[in-house]
Amino acid sequence: MLTAQATDINVPLLDLKAQYATIRDEIEPVVHEVIESQYFIGGPKIDQLEKEIAAYCSCKHAIGCANGSDAIVLALQAMGVGPGDEVILPTYTFFATAGSVSRLGARPIMVDIDPATYNICPKSLEEAFGCCKKVKAIIPVHLFGQAADLDSVLAIATNHKVAVIEDCAQAIGTEDHRGVRVGSRGDIGTYSFFPSKNLGGFGDGGIVATNNDELGACMKRLRNHGMEPKYFHKEIGMNSRLDALQAAVLSVKLRHLDAWGAARQKNAAWYDTFFKDAGATDSRTAVDAGGLALRYPALNKGRHIYNQYVVRVAGAIRDQVRDEMTKRKIGTEIYYPLSLHQQECYANLGYRAGVFPHAERAAKETIALPIFGELTAAQRTHVAQTLVEIVRKLS
Ligand SMILES: Cc1ncc(COP(=O)(O)O)c(C=O)c1O
Repeated sequence: MLTAQATDINVPLLDLKAQYATIRDEIEPVVHEVIESQYFIGGPKIDQLEKEIAAYCSCKHAIGCANGSDAIVLALQAMGVGPGDEVILPTYTFFATAGSVSRLGARPIMVDIDPATYNICPKSLEEAFGCCKKVKAIIPVHLFGQAADLDSVLAIATNHKVAVIEDCAQAIGTEDHRGVRVGSRGDIGTYSFFPSKNLGGFGDGGIVATNNDELGACMKRLRNHGMEPKYFHKEIGMNSRLDALQAAVLSVKLRHLDAWGAARQKNAAWYDTFFKDAGATDSRTAVDAGGLALRYPALNKGRHIYNQYVVRVAGAIRDQVRDEMTKRKIGTEIYYPLSLHQQECYANLGYRAGVFPHAERAAKETIALPIFGELTAAQRTHVAQTLVEIVRKLS
């Protein structure tokens, strides 16, 4: 039975106002500075952020762009991907991973995921090469903020001589099992500053990062119509620039990113323990395999930045669980209700239902809980207690 006090608690999925309240005094002067300078496109704030992000992501070059979707397009274009090429990616990710491939006239080749981590399944990836002869690149996605199995992905890519573009939209600062930042081992790492990301701007934004000088120079041109020098165009790029107001805000926020990440990790560890004590196990075990029918995230070695904290419940009750949580004023989200191979716009690719069972099952069972750093202990307890109570009632 919930106490009267607990039922009064409102818990949004993400509370950006709470975060802003802690940095308002740092943000206002830099925004004012940009306005006074009237220097909105390019300029010192962009240069500064690009240097800071390159250092943070352990890359030689970072190039700001308009959003994380364009970042993938820029990376693919720099790798020479175009019409007729194939690009392999996990089917369980945000749409932009595949949409960016399609925007260049290339064909997204989808593969299944590891059911424990939701990241690309190396076995499924290797199998894809059996039937695809025009693969130019692989895009592993570090989903929810946990590193994909890069050792396997890079070995497969080297073997087949294809590029690796790491989609780090949800994973800035994530580290793999060796303690290496994601985005720095593949050819290019792509990042999003969408407001709900751990490093979120005050609008759209993105960045590409690489250790390769040539690729860096190429993406710098491509984000600005392929122009170099001014009004001379060797290639066709696009207008995908990050603006100075965003850069100013992001430089301030970057200073807090590790502390915010640590707060998310603390919340995650607390949830894990609470759910374990209630009889749940982690997502390495199927949700119908016994114990409380709730699975908390399985952790690989490395640094998970918890852009999302995603649990699993039985597919038959998942939507009811979410409805009940909403009634109790707890924000949740389904990332993602449909895998990409099942999207209407990709019907032409001809994937049949059941072809990627782990992704299809995840799409039915997952639910994301509030994990943001400013979550209070009372809010966190309310979320966990309510979820366990609902799962027990509906199971
Ligand atoms: C995995 C992934 N890739 C790409 C993107 C695209 O980023 P943006 O929304 O900045 O275009 C997102 C954003 O949600 C994402 O989560």
